[in-house]
Parts: sequence; structure tokens; C-alpha cells
Amino acid sequence: MAELELTPIGGALGATVGGLDQHGLEAPGLIDELRGALREHHVLFFPGLDPSVEALRDLGARCGPLEVHPYIEKVAEDIPEVCVLDTSATPKADIWHTDVTYSEHPPIAAMLHMVECPPWGGDTMWINCHGVYDSLSIGLRQFLATLTCIHDDGRQGSLQAEHPVVRIHPDTGRPALYVNKQHGRRIPQLSRPESQMLLAFLYKWQEQVKFSCRWHWQPGDVALWDERVTLHVMVDDTHERRLMRRVTVLGDDPQALSPDSMAPRAASDQSAASGFYGIGGYDF
Ligand SMILES: [Fe+2]
Repeated sequence: MAELELTPIGGALGATVGGLDQHGLEAPGLIDELRGALREHHVLFFPGLDPSVEALRDLGARCGPLEVHPYIEKVAEDIPEVCVLDTSATPKADIWHTDVTYSEHPPIAAMLHMVECPPWGGDTMWINCHGVYDSLSIGLRQFLATLTCIHDDGRQGSLQAEHPVVRIHPDTGRPALYVNKQHGRRIPQLSRPESQMLLAFLYKWQEQVKFSCRWHWQPGDVALWDERVTLHVMVDDTHERRLMRRVTVLGDDPQALSPDSMAPRAASDQSAASGFYGIGGYDF
């Protein structure tokens, strides 16, 4: 197949994919191309692709086994892998999160298909969690690599799982911060106030716009992202209906960064990170 036409949409992450239509979804080599593009850009956008329910499911299934969510509404009984996200019927996903981290086996990727768009607003934003991790000082990075976080779904009798606070991408070995405000509850290695304070700091730190990209949806658009190294949120600035379909792909379970594997760094980098994601100038 022809090489994908990738155009970045921001400095931190995100790229549009051109040169692909519904007929190209079954092309041999497409999934490998998409995996490569995700390693570089972490979230990909397919403007106006507008796949059928079956085509969305089948594209997801070529990326890996599909999750059947335990309770989110499905598009049809015989297509349980495709969820319906309808702001007129269910709560908006307006808190920064990574999907289903309350599962022992959280998804590694997800796809959203915009079916009915609000006339204004209702964008989605994503965060590059590699960039967040890279922005922290070496001392904090080393400490975080020793910790886990307990996640739950916030419901009574909730589903719960414990994952490393720093997760490595299995293909690149690159670390990413892996906590999120919607599902993260506590760090069991710390006292309750210590856990609350550290998580509050991490949530506030990672939600900075400089780590983000933002997509303004049109009907038919599709987004595909790597759940292992990103956060996302709906920008809740619309009261109009927003109807989407979603599939989530299962794969490797969260893998911790070994504190021993962290490369020694220059003395000048011991107190704070530097570069594009540097700490300088940030004021709480
Ligand atoms: Fe989500």
C-alpha cells in the first residue's frame, strides 16, 4: 500500500492521516503502518472516514482482540464490541482519563467515530504522557517508578485494578506517566495524605496545555490512539447532543519501568528536566 500521509496537528502529539478512504481499510500492511504512526504521534485522526459499524469493528479487530465493555451501551446486541457514547443519555467524559484503567487488562488502543456532532464545541483533547514523564526531575521520576496506583470505576461495588505509576511502551521501551484523575484513587505505598498530595500534583502537572493536542470534530471523523501513553477528555463547552461509537483494543498489560534501568543523567539534569517540556515558568 502507499505510505500514509501524516500531518502533525500539534507540537506534543497528534497527526492527521491522509490518503486513506474506506476502500483502503483492508489494505495489507495498513495495521503495521498505523502502529508505526502511533509510536511517533500517539493519536491519529482520519477526517471524514465515516466507517460502517462493521468496518469500525473490523479495523479495531485487526489491531488486536476487542474488549466488550462490562456496562457501556452497545450499538447492537450482535455487535457487543462497539459501544455507543451519547451525551444525551450518559455522563460526559469531561474528566481527564485513560479508558478502563480499572480493569486488570486495560485496552492498549481505542477508536472513536463521530456520528452526530454538536454544531459548536465538544472537542476532544489528548495528552502525551511520555512528554509529561520526561518533564519531571530525575529524582521524582526515580521515585515514581517504585510506585503503583489503584484505579477504580467510581461505581458502587466497583471494578478495581492496581497498575504501575510509570508504564513503559512495549515496542519502544519509552516510559510514560500512567495515572488519571477519573479512575486513579490512591498509591498504596504511601500514607493517605501523601498519596492525595502526590496524585493531586501529578494530575495538575499532566493536564498542562503544552502536553496536549485538540481535535474539532466533524461528522464521520475517526480518531485512533494509544491508550498506554495518552490521556483524553471531552471539552464540555456544548449542551448539544454528541453521539459517537467506540471500540477498544486489548493487548499487553501495563509493564513497570524498572528503577534500575533508568540511565544515569548529567549532573545539570538532576534537579529538573529541561527542553520543550521544561519546568521553568510554571506557576501554580
Ligand atoms: Fe474515554
